[in-house]
Amino acid sequence: MFAKHGVLACLRPTAARGGSTVTVASHAGDKPPIRVCRRAPARILSIAANDGIDDANEILIGHPTGRTPAICRVRELIRQVARFDSTVLISGESGTGKEGVARELHARSSRAAKPFVPVNCGAIPAELLESELFGHEKGAFTGAVSMRRGRFELAQGGTLFLDEIAEMSPLMQVKLLRVVQERVFERVGSCDVRPCDVRIVAATNRRLEEEVAAGRFRADLYYRLNVFPIELPALRNRRDDLPLLIEELNLRLQSRGYPCVQFSSPALAELGGYSWPGNVRELENLMERIAVSTPGRPITPADLPLRQPPIESAAAPFSAMSDSSPELATPPAGPLEVALPPEGLNLRETLASIEQNLIDVAMTRSNGVVAHAARLLRVQRTTLIEKMRRDPRCRVESGTHPDTDEASLVEA
Ligand SMILES: Nc1ncnc2c1ncn2[C@@H]1O[C@H](COP(=O)(O)OP(=O)(O)OP(=O)(O)O)[C@@H](O)[C@H]1O
Ligand SMILES: [Mg+2]
Repeated sequence: MFAKHGVLACLRPTAARGGSTVTVASHAGDKPPIRVCRRAPARILSIAANDGIDDANEILIGHPTGRTPAICRVRELIRQVARFDSTVLISGESGTGKEGVARELHARSSRAAKPFVPVNCGAIPAELLESELFGHEKGAFTGAVSMRRGRFELAQGGTLFLDEIAEMSPLMQVKLLRVVQERVFERVGSCDVRPCDVRIVAATNRRLEEEVAAGRFRADLYYRLNVFPIELPALRNRRDDLPLLIEELNLRLQSRGYPCVQFSSPALAELGGYSWPGNVRELENLMERIAVSTPGRPITPADLPLRQPPIESAAAPFSAMSDSSPELATPPAGPLEVALPPEGLNLRETLASIEQNLIDVAMTRSNGVVAHAARLLRVQRTTLIEKMRRDPRCRVESGTHPDTDEASLVEA
């Protein structure tokens, strides 16, 4: 069975390295999550050991992958609500793993043996969505040459995943509200009222409260859907999860016949300093690209085709890069001019002070991420850390994780 899903190939090398048996969920395409047993890779075990986590299962079991408090909280919410029929509203930026969470909820529910039916409300034209969701009778409209069951019927007994719910037209919002409230629907062109036994999970990458405030989304439907909210953190807000995610994504690559991608420490530092506007999907795509283009050797920063976050983008931690800040003004093109006072100056102290000033600005602009600040100053990350250590005003709190190189300056 493993081989059928292409999982076995990636299990052998990790099993050989030893570790405790864990259960993971895999989300490939439209297939439901597959539960398999494998041994925790040595690297994950060592991450767990470093963190004082006795049980590597804690950081591996289920979806979404990660060990930061934000993602552990998400897993906790999934565990809490999965066995109930409560409607769940999953929100989060694109690529944060909303569909994976919906599948995990289904897999952990008593409905797991019944269908998981996803519908992308944003991808189906408004005029077709009603028949797509509720089905139609033969002759209900031009082109309805035969009866067709809709997604609500197909999901009977299981879970209906309404993705990109904010894109739904006002008319369809009214129709959906009725099903959510009364748990009945009619096929287009029929008066027969059909009961629906479906658990609804909806997802959006917009702030639905704002859509309600702007009058684009019905408040009554919002409250009906938002019974149990789960908000997925952006990857830039859980950079410490990068090593585990890379491990997980490597397993998936290997299972599809791609080579494993190994990042050098400086490359990992680059990844840690990046804003990931496309979140885990962007990381996944990046790794696939690298697996194809640069197989068989450790990846250096020069190999990384990272696109810089656009200024004033949604990448919140980097919003300090806005041009409007006076301290961020473009530096003069020519040499920096410092007046020499009549009494002279201490050259060493003056240069040190200018240097510290620039480091402060770079650290502010990069929101405390050393790797990012080092890039701005065109120095090695280790050089920058050394320089900050020498600053008598500050001490560097060594990063939240050695691989991601996040560090914060703390006033002494
Ligand atoms: N925490 C995670 N652990 C492992 N894989 C993840 C995680 N989050 C996302 N992924 C992977 O990233 C990809 C994107 O995830 P998914 O399609 O669920 O995102 P999404 O939030 O639904 O995005 P969109 O809003 O663009 O539809 C998938 O291949 C998924 O398996
Ligand atoms: Mg999605």
